Amino acid sequence: MSDSPVIDEITPDELYRDMRRGNPPYILDVRNEDEFANWVIEGLPADSLLNIPYFAFLEDEHGCLARVPRGRDVAVVCAKGGSSAFVASLLTQHGIRARNLQGGMIAWGDLHVTMRVPSPPALGLSLFQINRVGKRCLSYLIVSNGEAQVIDPARHIDWYMSLAQAQQAQLTRVIDTHLHADHLSGGPALARALGIPYHIRLDDAAGAQFPYHSLADGDRLALGSSVVEIITLHTPGHTPGSTSLLVNERYLLTGDTLFVSSIGRPDLGDKAEEWAQLLYRTLFDRIVGLPDDVLILPAHYSAVGEMRQDGIVATTLGEARQKNPVFQRRTEQQFLEYVLARLPAQPPIYQEIRRANLGRIVLDAEHAIEAELGPNQCAAALSPQV
Ligand SMILES: [Fe+2]
Repeated sequence: MSDSPVIDEITPDELYRDMRRGNPPYILDVRNEDEFANWVIEGLPADSLLNIPYFAFLEDEHGCLARVPRGRDVAVVCAKGGSSAFVASLLTQHGIRARNLQGGMIAWGDLHVTMRVPSPPALGLSLFQINRVGKRCLSYLIVSNGEAQVIDPARHIDWYMSLAQAQQAQLTRVIDTHLHADHLSGGPALARALGIPYHIRLDDAAGAQFPYHSLADGDRLALGSSVVEIITLHTPGHTPGSTSLLVNERYLLTGDTLFVSSIGRPDLGDKAEEWAQLLYRTLFDRIVGLPDDVLILPAHYSAVGEMRQDGIVATTLGEARQKNPVFQRRTEQQFLEYVLARLPAQPPIYQEIRRANLGRIVLDAEHAIEAELGPNQCAAALSPQV
């Protein structure tokens, strides 16, 4: 009979809840150094994250154990939850209270947290932000009068079907604000599963291997109650077909056009300067003209600091005007110089993800997980305004 201790587990959901409460465990990440460099659990307090690769425990158990702080709750993390279970067991045998992160970083990357965005009852709608925390991807569900629309869904489409069902709403439309490069869209699959229309602009979807309805500037997308008005705005720059959705002149779902403290990178089509010019016009001729109290709801964030106290990633346009450094570069020349000098390297996998999002290749389950490892790299690397 084995005398090894039973290993406690912590689920990604529990870990996120502890983080939001300000009481997360100490994280011991036992993946290899390169995996750790590429992707970590973010938003932890200082001195709460340590990388000691699993193989190091095999080579020098006592040396590794000595590096793990005593007297703290520890959560051990690896890619899938296997080698971390071994290390958690080892720590437990040595008197350290350790739990294994169930499913590892893959499960962390699949954690979806749903937040209701406050809205006045008179608007006649419920708006949900679904935060895929590990990848910093945001999607949305808008519900009104028994109908619902999904915007920028991740590939785990069951999540959206369950959420709509919990709201006693029928999904009637799926929209992608643009052709995503960092993650696999659930849009076409969700539309197919439910027999509902999938929308994306033609400029981004040319060559797609599935049916879609293009979005034209100024389209009005009907939803449930007649008091809800969703207007599409063509906001090119991150991609030529990028579209933002203006909901009741109060919320602007910007996709990857405008983030809380950055903008969508304009270089993913290898036409950085041309697309950056489009983005300049989008931001300064179009978005900037909207009222200050419009709430910007983006499709991504780059850091936990972009999250409000209530856990929602959003900012008003007025606040963005003051704090997002992009709005301080007022001339096109200043804007181009600033943005083009701050473009991070493009992950090579993005090419493949775009092809998959057009239905031109199909990734099996294992390949899909691999393609989506790591946080999004969709933003230009702008420094926050102080
Ligand atoms: Fe994007």
